[in-house]
Amino acid sequence: MQKTVYSPGPVVRKKGQLYDNPETDVEKIRLTIDGREVEAEKGMNVLEAARLAGIEIPSLCYLRHINEIGSCRVCLVEVEIKGAKTLQASCVYPATEGLVVHTSSPRVRRVRKTMVELLLSDHHLNQAHPAGPDFVDMP
Ligand code: FES
Repeated sequence: MQKTVYSPGPVVRKKGQLYDNPETDVEKIRLTIDGREVEAEKGMNVLEAARLAGIEIPSLCYLRHINEIGSCRVCLVEVEIKGAKTLQASCVYPATEGLVVHTSSPRVRRVRKTMVELLLSDHHLNQAHPAGPDFVDMP
């Protein structure tokens, strides 16, 4: 059986359009990411909103329109909800008006590193990398 390969295709933007949403009258929202107020389109997730603003969040399993299940948790961020900070996968968490997001707090970096370590724990890195199985170096 032949395997089908999907491609998201080229991004086509119309005037006043922030992302590849084909609708022209897309509602804009404002949220705060790492202390910066940024603009995004309603319907985006936090990962897309951050990338649109030039803020990097690492991701592994997310492929827009292809794989949006939020399984690896490498894209974790802290989201403030009613004063409490919760960890959320940014690739499946909706960007909403007034949302406050922290992408690189010590807690986020620590948990993100643990997620990568868990993912790699079932792989034989000692044969793939000269640094051996304990080599995980994330900022
Ligand atoms: S990129 Fe894998 S959960 Fe978000």
